[in-house]
Amino acid sequence: MADNREITIKVNGKDMTTYVETRLSLGDVLREHFHLTGTHLGCEHGVCGACTVVVDGEPIRSCLMLGVQAHGKEVTTVEGLSKGEDLHPIQEAFWKNHGLQCGYCTPGFLTTLFSFLENNSDPTEREIREAISGNICRCTGYQNIVNAALDAAKVMKGS
Ligand code: FES
Ligand code: FES
Repeated sequence: MADNREITIKVNGKDMTTYVETRLSLGDVLREHFHLTGTHLGCEHGVCGACTVVVDGEPIRSCLMLGVQAHGKEVTTVEGLSKGEDLHPIQEAFWKNHGLQCGYCTPGFLTTLFSFLENNSDPTEREIREAISGNICRCTGYQNIVNAALDAAKVMKGS
């Protein structure tokens, strides 16, 4: 018989409570219970990085964390980056630098870089490449993603 628990997670600044099966991943909870489908699931075993969200300030693969493990934590998904109609500087930079093509990997890159740039205001290209080394993109060849990250870093430093 399925084991169910009530959990409350602060998602994008708002407390959200639901009743979940304990076997459910955080990614599935975000998508199926909270309808935040911006978090994409790719490999579902920790390899591609598409499902990355920020949990208590750290980038986490939401396919590898159980929803019940996120109880009481703060989670930022890609939906939480923009302020209403205003895109976050990282989103703006991806748009300007053509940092995406099909877009499947993009939420994972955005959340990974969001967490990284919050803690590293003046990164080198090498540090950016290291920060995104766990995210796989099959379309872009990465250069435009790196350019976007360098651009976003400049804007975030200035603001
Ligand atoms: S879906 Fe989580 S790392 Fe690929
Ligand atoms: S833009 Fe298509 S996988 Fe990255």
